[in-house]
Amino acid sequence: MAVQISPSILAADFARLADEAAAVPNADWLHVDVMDYHFVPNLTLGLPVVESLRKATDKPLDCHLMIAEPDRWAPAYAEAGAGSVTIHAEAARAPVRTLREIRALGARAGLALSPATAVEPFEDLLGEVDMLLLMTVEPGFGGQKFLDVVLPKLRRARELVDKHGGRVWLQVDGGVTGETIERCAEAGADVFVAGSAVFGASDPMAAVDELRAAAERAGS
Ligand code: DX5
Ligand code: ZN
Repeated sequence: MAVQISPSILAADFARLADEAAAVPNADWLHVDVMDYHFVPNLTLGLPVVESLRKATDKPLDCHLMIAEPDRWAPAYAEAGAGSVTIHAEAARAPVRTLREIRALGARAGLALSPATAVEPFEDLLGEVDMLLLMTVEPGFGGQKFLDVVLPKLRRARELVDKHGGRVWLQVDGGVTGETIERCAEAGADVFVAGSAVFGASDPMAAVDELRAAAERAGS
């Protein structure tokens, strides 16, 4: 299980996104949090910023859509060149159709579950997804405290993914730090989003290396 680190630009300086992306050359992805003031009580950025960022960095963009109408908007993020587009199960009305559209447009398809959403009802959808995102905070804001209550679900998700061949990546997002990342890796996550722990650090590149090392130690 290869560890991947996806720094969240939510904690970066939005006026200098190209520079901030360049500050983490050792990251696997750039995590882009799209919020619409409806699905979550916060507003961030949308398609125009993703289109510009696509041209400003070679890093693949990991777009996490925290929006009310993902069925309507998700394909446009894939068309804009996102490497991965993740929709929330709580918001999608036609998740199978939308996940298939994302894939057909050449991006990886992700399905996100908020902390209180059970993973078991989505077992039959695993064949439709490339990544399952388990939120380890309530979606909406960076800098929140990691929710340990999600760890048992993460273990169950790892069992389900392995039962179906282990192809699906298991991502955690929210409150991931040098300390909490170990618990996530032990429980079976392999893709780690970190906002404050990377862009809030004095040396973001070193922070990525440290997170990766901690996850590799704990997950092996
Ligand atoms: C929260 C976002 C996260 C956020 C994580 O709703 O989905 O990606 O940027 O920030 P930290 O790592 O600071 O908890
Ligand atoms: Zn996110």
